[in-house]
Amino acid sequence: MDNASARITIFDTTLRDGEQSPGCSMNVQEKARLARQLDRLGVDVIEAGFPIASDGDFAAVQAVAAAVPRPVIAALARAARHDIERAAQALQSAIRPRIHVFLATSDIHLQHKLRISRQQALEQARDSVRLARTFCNDVEFSPEDATRTDPEFLFQVLEAVIEAGATTVNIPDTVGYTVPAEFGELIRNIRQRVRGAEGVVISAHCHNDLGLAVANSLAAVAAGARQVECTINGIGERAGNASLEEIVMAVRVRADQYPYHTGIASEHLYPTSQMLEEITEIPVQPNKAIIGRNAFAHEAGIHQDGMLKNRLTYEIMTPQSVGVPDSKLVLGKHSGRHALSLRCDQLGYHFERRELDEIYRKFVILADHIKHVHDHHLLGLIHEAYGETHRIPPGRVEAERAVAAAANAEGRRLFPVVLPTDFSAASLPANPSSEHHSDQEDYLWGV
Ligand code: KIV
Ligand code: ZN
Repeated sequence: MDNASARITIFDTTLRDGEQSPGCSMNVQEKARLARQLDRLGVDVIEAGFPIASDGDFAAVQAVAAAVPRPVIAALARAARHDIERAAQALQSAIRPRIHVFLATSDIHLQHKLRISRQQALEQARDSVRLARTFCNDVEFSPEDATRTDPEFLFQVLEAVIEAGATTVNIPDTVGYTVPAEFGELIRNIRQRVRGAEGVVISAHCHNDLGLAVANSLAAVAAGARQVECTINGIGERAGNASLEEIVMAVRVRADQYPYHTGIASEHLYPTSQMLEEITEIPVQPNKAIIGRNAFAHEAGIHQDGMLKNRLTYEIMTPQSVGVPDSKLVLGKHSGRHALSLRCDQLGYHFERRELDEIYRKFVILADHIKHVHDHHLLGLIHEAYGETHRIPPGRVEAERAVAAAANAEGRRLFPVVLPTDFSAASLPANPSSEHHSDQEDYLWGV
């Protein structure tokens, strides 16, 4: 960690904003379990719920506060006395409580949802923060729909809540409408134009309706925000919130562009993601950055060849750095001979180049018909072409492995090595067409 770089506070709202998304609700035990994992992950703030919303949410905030003493525990409240009192009650046993008060400030919300004037909103925001401060020294205020709020009015509200005692002012892009340059500019203007801004933490809370939540959060950080609100797996209302794992790893991998650090122990990212997936039963999209099942999987022959020679060719971070056990080479129709040959060796069969060609020819025909060629398919092909004639004698398997491992430590780790004792033959299509692969064979030779 670079001590010269600025520290970014990671405010995790998986248990509140994330939980609000369809299909993601969690019971008290599940929230407490995930909170313990978020603690291991090293988040600074856990927003545990919205106590006025339900008895379950109230109990969840209490349970999370009891389960994890280290992080700040935040509870959400509308800018209303009863909400704030309920939040304060739920946080009573928290060692580091935070009341998070929000009130919409955009004209769209004021006119159509709240039906109050700007002046009323300003007073309500200020009075609510003042009330919250009577319960707790740590009070965050969020002007909901800030990015569609008249900036001059937004600055006035922020000034008022800072004067009333807010310690963090969070700028929500509630409907995922802003873009990085604009959001960065807004944060810069807040820092320059809002009286008292230098004495509080400025925070970003971005939704992903245009797929820009992470980019907007990073733009905010570059402009001076020192807290980001985010969720595991990017879950959240509609298209979700900014994804915690993406923000953390962007800052870590591109430290040259983002001279900041977080307290996140990144090797817990994948286990945390998996736990959330297990609890909510909402699958992570396979190509999700950092923690999707394809994030460290390679099928294209050229990529596999590069990976076998040096991982830096196609990976910008190690899977272990985010808690993924290892990269995977997937044998499919885009794979090349290099990966195939390695896998054959690992399965206990060694072929010379021309023999491997024969296996490869059959392999691409099969791969054209099935999505993934698993070990038992490959063993079927080998058996069909050569029976057991090319089996490395049992005593030599270990020696061959050691040689291969020494020669290619990367390759050893890319395929999980399991030597099956028996296998079922793959059934090849009755009348396979191989024409598609003549070009591919030339292209991939040596690959
Ligand atoms: O998106 C939003 O505006 C919110 C606030 C309550 C912070 O979630
Ligand atoms: Zn939100």
